[in-house]
Amino acid sequence: MISSSLSKTPDRIARMFDAIATRYDFLNHLLSIGIDRRWRRRAIRSLSLTGRERVLDICTGTGDLAIAARTARPPAARVVGVDFAAAMLRVGHEKLRREQLTDTIALVRGDATSIPAADASVDAVTMAFGIRNVENTNAACDEIYRVLKRSGRLAILEFSIPTTPGLRAAYLWYFNQILPRIGRLVSRHHAAYGYLPASVGAFASPVEFVTVLRQSGFIDISAVPLTMGIVFLYTARRSA
Ligand SMILES: C[S@@+](CC[C@H](N)C(=O)[O-])C[C@H]1O[C@@H](n2cnc3c(N)ncnc32)[C@H](O)[C@@H]1O
Repeated sequence: MISSSLSKTPDRIARMFDAIATRYDFLNHLLSIGIDRRWRRRAIRSLSLTGRERVLDICTGTGDLAIAARTARPPAARVVGVDFAAAMLRVGHEKLRREQLTDTIALVRGDATSIPAADASVDAVTMAFGIRNVENTNAACDEIYRVLKRSGRLAILEFSIPTTPGLRAAYLWYFNQILPRIGRLVSRHHAAYGYLPASVGAFASPVEFVTVLRQSGFIDISAVPLTMGIVFLYTARRSA
């Protein structure tokens, strides 16, 4: 049985992210000591953009990965970010306005398991730290496959737990003891930063997630550990 702290009903997850939206970016950069920006740039590099692509960023939150896609060199031509948490999108919209990116990045409300886009309509799909929050992982991967054009590229970032013994122990201590305390203090939300390590611990291993991608039809799948395996970059393509 899923404990209530790990329940992933859309309503609960959206409410949780809405509640921390205004502190989300600050905490992201603080808790990862800024490395999160590098992970996002790495994910965008894996797409080998040429300047012509339409990119869909699922679970876009406050839009950082969408912005990374549009500000890369060369950039995506157009990016649409999709998320079901309205307050996260509001923070994202504000950022787009400040950075004068509203002409080329749109943020829309929607669910990863029912993506508001036509079949085979986008060149690439990205997702950062979203997939472990989605209640039905397989349904989201099937949806991503549906909206990608033939040979379209996928890049997903997700946390993992390092396997090297000493590092694993140190990381679990930081992740389970320190991170939730800082998160609670800054966000004033009691559940969200306890949910973060719990949801990472419960998510599929890299081998299992690769299997999910394969079941959805993806090819050329790879799982690359970043920062000693704290994060994995999953890349894949829709078949031609
Ligand atoms: C940890 S945040 C990641 C945000 C952003 N991608 C980033 O890199 O900072 C996860 C986001 O996924 C969204 N999310 C989770 N499940 C979702 C679903 N089924 N459909 C749409 N958005 C979802 C949440 O609302 C939240 O904004």
